[in-house]
Amino acid sequence: MPRYGLDRQLEIHQTGGSLGTVTAEDWARRAESALEPGPWGYVAGGAGTEATMRANLTAFDRWRIVPRLLRDVSERDLSTTVLGTPFPVPFGLAPVGVQSVLHGEAERPPAAAAAALRIPLVLSTVSSTPLEEVAAIMGDAPRWFQLYPGTDPEIVASLIARAERSGYSALVVTVDTTLLGWRPRDLRTGYLPFFSGQGIANYVSDPVFQARLGAGASMAETVQLFLRVYANPGFTWKDLDRIRAVTRVPLLVKGLLHPDDARDAVAHGADGIVVSNHGGRQVDGAIAALDALPGIVAAVGGHTAVLMDSGIRSGADVVKALALGARAVFIGRLYAYALAAAGREGVDQVLRDLRAEVDLTMGMAGLRSLAEVGPGALAG
Ligand SMILES: Cc1cc2nc3c(=O)[nH]c(=O)nc-3n(C[C@H](O)[C@H](O)[C@H](O)COP(=O)(O)O)c2cc1C
Repeated sequence: MPRYGLDRQLEIHQTGGSLGTVTAEDWARRAESALEPGPWGYVAGGAGTEATMRANLTAFDRWRIVPRLLRDVSERDLSTTVLGTPFPVPFGLAPVGVQSVLHGEAERPPAAAAAALRIPLVLSTVSSTPLEEVAAIMGDAPRWFQLYPGTDPEIVASLIARAERSGYSALVVTVDTTLLGWRPRDLRTGYLPFFSGQGIANYVSDPVFQARLGAGASMAETVQLFLRVYANPGFTWKDLDRIRAVTRVPLLVKGLLHPDDARDAVAHGADGIVVSNHGGRQVDGAIAALDALPGIVAAVGGHTAVLMDSGIRSGADVVKALALGARAVFIGRLYAYALAAAGREGVDQVLRDLRAEVDLTMGMAGLRSLAEVGPGALAG
């Protein structure tokens, strides 16, 4: 069994430190000083008063782990398999769009760092790097593709086919962003990266999109077409059926918060649910994702993979979400901040540190495998 926690502690102490950056707050501070106000507001901000963004964090704080001791925790197994994809540790990288505003190499450093550790990465539809190039960087390492279900079914089908051809082994359909949230930080700075042609790499490289655009289109025309096709406020369960029908890999629906929506998703062919409020970027005042998790697990958890994101900042947070029924979780800003602050080295460090902290938290709490992480490990 790997000794993620102990090995990482020894490595850090032997080399004399960890870039001076360990906690999520450390990374946020470094990212803020590395970025201009526009990109910083884009990554760090949430919708409205940011009440939901804060609630995502305080929800974790309301739960306490109750350690069990003297259980021989010398061997710990953090691995699991979700919809056929092996997770060596119970977390992956959430889709974070437009990473060119965070770092000159955009999605490439997270792709390389995740692949090296074989930690699954979900690539955003609105990545700044074409999905084929990210796949080439990742080789045979596990990856999923996130889809914004747009208005043009042929472009959607083309994106899905390209992702499947490029080895993305599940499709994550994000349904909470058919409209863009009201985000004061971006509105204050007048900052939307799409307008400068960033985050549209998967569209400009798409043959159906290109055919719609015609030859010799200007950047402004390209962006206008992108804005018309990428989000679809008319999206319904019937449209999800159409996506299911053209998708051969397992399908997850990301962004659900109500148990009845989770039931509907399963009825319409979803293999998995990602409980998420988009990191508090969409509906201000929405329920914290962690608070929505137990109800959704109770509704569909028996036969459906329930995962979650929104608010994960530490190893303890990962363990708490698993104890409340998540099969695995995703991190968003945590790695986005590290990318902005220190590129590949930063993402690599965040992933290895989180892996270590999950390992140590489980061990110290008397939990030797994910099967042992249940509600009994927590006090409310
Ligand atoms: C800068 C930024 C860009 C994002 N872009 C996408 C995206 O393109 N697609 C998507 O499904 N979710 C997107 N998300 C939401 C994340 O996938 C995830 O739900 C969220 O970041 C989790 O919350 P956390 O940041 O508190 O971990 C984005 C989040 C951030 C912070």
